[in-house]
Amino acid sequence: MPKKLPIFVANLKANKNWPDLNSYFEQISQGAEKTEGVVIVCPSAPFLISSAQKLKEINSKISLGAQDVSKFEEGPYTGEYSASQIKDFCAYSIVGHSERKKHFSETAKDVQTKVELLLKSQITPILCIGSEEELEEYAQIELIQNSISNIIFVHEPPGAISGQSTYRPQNPDEANIETGKVKEKFKNSTVLYGGSVNPGNAKDFFTKDNIDGALIGQASLSPQDFIAIVTA
Ligand code: PGA
Repeated sequence: MPKKLPIFVANLKANKNWPDLNSYFEQISQGAEKTEGVVIVCPSAPFLISSAQKLKEINSKISLGAQDVSKFEEGPYTGEYSASQIKDFCAYSIVGHSERKKHFSETAKDVQTKVELLLKSQITPILCIGSEEELEEYAQIELIQNSISNIIFVHEPPGAISGQSTYRPQNPDEANIETGKVKEKFKNSTVLYGGSVNPGNAKDFFTKDNIDGALIGQASLSPQDFIAIVTA
């Protein structure tokens, strides 16, 4: 099967203030033109609306994504923001990231609800899958099975996610096998690899048959490194 157009997602996590982010968009926009693929940047929630305005102003091809979304539709949920509140300026949202599970006790049921609310608001979920158990669990969910073409899946083993300045990537062959398992459960799906992708190893992942792109954390913080990955 011919390869799909690649998708690159920058997960900026709790990094960058507005002045940094503003110049980050200027620095990566030109580089993003060099790929036919889809480039999605996920900044912190307080900057989503300003980021949308900035990208429009500089006529960038970059799309905007949230890093998470509420499991509630609307109402008295202090500190939360719902899918329907971001739908006008956000086309994507990461959901089910292992850091949400580890630090915020998020469950598979929460993830299912979030996917449902995102799809209802026509936001594409970028659904992270951290283990075979999780894959089995999500594969049983009818809503996900019925929405495969509207979801971007990510094989992202928690052990491969970078630590403070240390990269711990999975072996690319192993990542290819694991990504293939996601494709077996979700036929014709788009599946990215996530976990310590950097300019030095990006090509090793992108040349694998089952890998349709990457979710990039640490290396996406540097505009130069992120563009080196996007053009790898
Ligand atoms: P990393 O993070 O590239 O820093 O390993 C990926 C992610 O957690 O989204």
